[in-house]
Amino acid sequence: MFDINLLLRDNIKKLIPYASARDEFSGSAHIFLDANENSLGSTVTPAYNRYPDPHQVKIKERLTEVKGLPPKNIFLGNGSDECIDLLYRAFCNPGKDNVVIHPPTYGMYEVSAHIHDVEVRRASLTENFELDLAEFERHTDEQTKIIWLCSPNNPTGNSFNRQNIEMILNNFDGLVVIDEAYINFSRQRSFIPELTDYPNLVILQTLSKAWGLAGLRLGMAFASESIIDVLNRIKPPYNIGQATQEIVLEALDGTDKVNAMIREIVEMRNDLAGKISRLSSVMSVYPSEANFLLVKIKNARKIYNELLNHSIVVRDRSSAPGCTDCLRITVGTKEQNDKLLDILSKIGNS
Ligand SMILES: Cc1ncc(COP(=O)(O)O)c(C=O)c1O
Repeated sequence: MFDINLLLRDNIKKLIPYASARDEFSGSAHIFLDANENSLGSTVTPAYNRYPDPHQVKIKERLTEVKGLPPKNIFLGNGSDECIDLLYRAFCNPGKDNVVIHPPTYGMYEVSAHIHDVEVRRASLTENFELDLAEFERHTDEQTKIIWLCSPNNPTGNSFNRQNIEMILNNFDGLVVIDEAYINFSRQRSFIPELTDYPNLVILQTLSKAWGLAGLRLGMAFASESIIDVLNRIKPPYNIGQATQEIVLEALDGTDKVNAMIREIVEMRNDLAGKISRLSSVMSVYPSEANFLLVKIKNARKIYNELLNHSIVVRDRSSAPGCTDCLRITVGTKEQNDKLLDILSKIGNS
């Protein structure tokens, strides 16, 4: 049985959170002399001399409509990367606890673990990049606090079998974090509706991918109220800036536009996958449910450098487990994809 008190670090249980000026006074007033801001304004218009809402009430209300979850189940971070960091801070005792990841996957689960001096255990994926349940069983013990699942997975692009994820959720009493950064490009349903069944489930999503707002830094964690409370207690008070809050609020009204972009990217992804797979140097284009393709190609490093010579930057993932000679290529605009194909076909035949 999941019991948050058995998972939380003692220092976090005892923590008295910082009370910001905006926490101590939330009524209406005309003169704010409580937060040591610059009362004269700032050098830009509009002025950003006031601290932002630490609770991001308006964005959460809007997200409630978009995601179908009440604000008490929503946490906002300065990118998902901040959510990842805070989960370690709250639940993993440095030098004592461990987490399980499934390489190849998103690098920050491991980097963040190292920052917090938390042991990382690696449950290999199967040959076709599916979760291997026996591997998870083998690596998990009573000091395992978090299992990180990334679905669709970066860099492999596939979504994991839903029943495999459910097996992990049903058999592990620590936190199961499902990072759904690429869910909008996938045919898989989000696990958000499952939150009511699993108090140990945390879902991460981000506005950096489908929403096209990587520069603003807004990540979301969805979870049971007790987990969200903890994240709110330990976060830096003003972790989402005023400009970000304003622009995100406006952007969230653009669901039609976002859906149109997603459709276009998915169409271009499928088209690109077909065309790349026909190149003679390409050994495999892995099925993708994300906005990128993992491509196994002869002499990947050489191809990577040749692309760079033509001012095209992709990611060489060859050193990741199971990804020898693999490049990860983000879907670009139509013109960018055509240019990439053109160069790839010329390099491949040279
Ligand atoms: C799986 C995954 N999660 C999270 C992130 C980072 O998201 P954010 O920009 O919200 O920090 C990335 C970025 O590449 C990612 O691939």
